[in-house]
Order: sequence, then C-alpha cells, then structure tokens
Amino acid sequence: MTGRLEDKVAIVTGGARGMGAATSRLFAREGARVVIADLLEEEGTALAQELGDNALYQRLDVADEASWIALVETVMSRHGRIDALVNNAAIVAFAPIVELSADLIDRVLAVNVKGAMLGLKHVGGKMCAAGRGAIVNISSVDGMRGVNSLSLYSSSKWAVRGLTKSAALEFGPLGVRVNSVHPGGVNTVMGNPQNLEGTAKNVGYERVPLQRIGEPEEIAAASLFLCSDEASYIAGAELSVDGGWAAGYYHHYLPGAPASLTSI
Ligand SMILES: NC(=O)c1ccc[n+]([C@@H]2O[C@H](COP(=O)([O-])OP(=O)(O)OC[C@H]3O[C@@H](n4cnc5c(N)ncnc54)[C@H](O)[C@@H]3O)[C@@H](O)[C@H]2O)c1
Repeated sequence: MTGRLEDKVAIVTGGARGMGAATSRLFAREGARVVIADLLEEEGTALAQELGDNALYQRLDVADEASWIALVETVMSRHGRIDALVNNAAIVAFAPIVELSADLIDRVLAVNVKGAMLGLKHVGGKMCAAGRGAIVNISSVDGMRGVNSLSLYSSSKWAVRGLTKSAALEFGPLGVRVNSVHPGGVNTVMGNPQNLEGTAKNVGYERVPLQRIGEPEEIAAASLFLCSDEASYIAGAELSVDGGWAAGYYHHYLPGAPASLTSI
C-alpha cells in the first residue's frame, strides 16, 4: 500500500538519523511532505536532498521553546498546515542513581520530557486549532519497567508515556489523536552504539521473545500506522514494538523443570 499519508504534512523530531530518519523516509514514501527537525544539520540536509522536493530540513533543539516557535512558523508559512508530529528526539545516559549529576538530570529531562511537551504545546496547539492531527510520542520499553543504571532515561520515558495519556484527553475532543510507541532495542547509534553487525547485534536479546534487535524501519511502521487515517479511532494508546520484550523475558527452563511444573 502507498499513499497512506498523501497530502499530509509531518514533522519528525530527531529525524536526521536512526529511527527518525527511517520514519522520515517511510513517511515521504507514503506521500507526506516531511519536515526533518534535528540538531544534526549535515545529516538532516543530506536526508532532505535524498527525499527530494517533499522534504525539508529545519534545525530544531527540542529543549528550546524559541526553536519550536521558529519551526512552526517555517512549516506553516511553507505548507499552511501540520497533520502529523513524531516526537522522536531523545538522548540516553547510563549512570547509577548515586552518580547522577544534577546537570545530567536537567539535560536528559529537558530533551526527552520538556522537548515532547513543547512539541505538544506548539505543534499540537496548531493541530487543535485546525481540528485535526495525529501525534506519536516515542517512549520505550523502558517507559514500562525499571532499569538499573538507566533510571534517568527510564523516568523520562515513563513521563513521555504519562504525558501521552494526558495529551490524548486534552486534545481528543479537539480532533487530535495522541499515542505512544514503545520500542525495545533498536539498531541505531543509541541502541547499537558499537555498530555490531550480523548475529553479533542480537547478542543480549536471547530472552526477548523474538530473540533479536529491532530495525528502525520496524518502529517507523508503527508510527506510520498511528499517524495515518487507518488509526482514526486510536487515541491514548501505547503500542509496544519490541519483539515481545514488554510481555516478559523468555524463560530457558533447566532440564527437567517443565515436567515438574506441569505435574503441580
Ligand atoms: N535505539 C533504541 O534501542 C531505542 C529503544 C527504545 C526507544 N528509543 C527511542 O527512540 C527514539 C529514537 O532513538 P534512536 O535510537 O533513533 O536514537 P539516535 O541517537 O540514533 O537518534 C536520535 C536523534 O535525535 C536527535 N536529537 C537529540 N537531541 C536533540 C535535540 N535536543 N533536539 C533535536 N534533535 C535532537 C539526534 O541528533 C538524533 O538525530 C528516541 O526517543 C529513543 O529514546 C530508542
């Protein structure tokens, strides 16, 4: 199927690389006019050139309100409308709680939480005024559980999940749908920083039901669905795209264990 976003204007934050780039590519292929909003100027410009006339790179720091205001002005003057927003930009930081600096806490929450909130405020605000639109907030499987040494990132992704519910309530009556997507491990700079290839990139995923890392295109497909009219009755939902990770860890029973379990 093609043309699932025909005539729609979509903004993808963090759209210059990784999952954001896969989302920008897929949205453009499905007929959207895509705005790649990212700090990475070189990558963003190159991707916009690759995608042709229907793509535009715009520098955005999601943590900076003035940057959002400028983005919305640019998109509205160029296209006159915004139909879809994927709040995808985020950063990750690994540290035990007792070693977290206040500055690091501020930075991660500013990008991951304030960034999504400002997107909802400025882009969502325009959508509500127009009476239509769809927003996808990219959370994580880590927004559904705790993770040692990832408390800061995990907290930010729980916040994005909670924010999604409140936004769905505020925006739903105005015709704007807000949902969250929860990726598991994904093959990007964030999820595979050593750029491992082949079976090596799946090491560590043995207990995830599908037993492998995800590809950015697999997450983009979920955002596409939620931003398309096929999801016209879906709001406030959370969609796991994680190879089954949120369902639980696959248990490798010790020899003999299943038999004794079934005899209980
Ligand atoms: N990769 C994973 O394993 C994984 C798993 C679960 C959730 N996620 C989430 O998926 C989303 C995309 O992650 P990814 O793996 O593609 O990461 P990535 O690091 O490859 O890409 C993130 C993009 O966000 C941009 N960005 C960072 N800070 C920004 C800012 N202040 N303003 C604008 N842009 C900014 C970066 O420049 C980059 O292009 C994130 O929300 C991430 O938390 C990733």
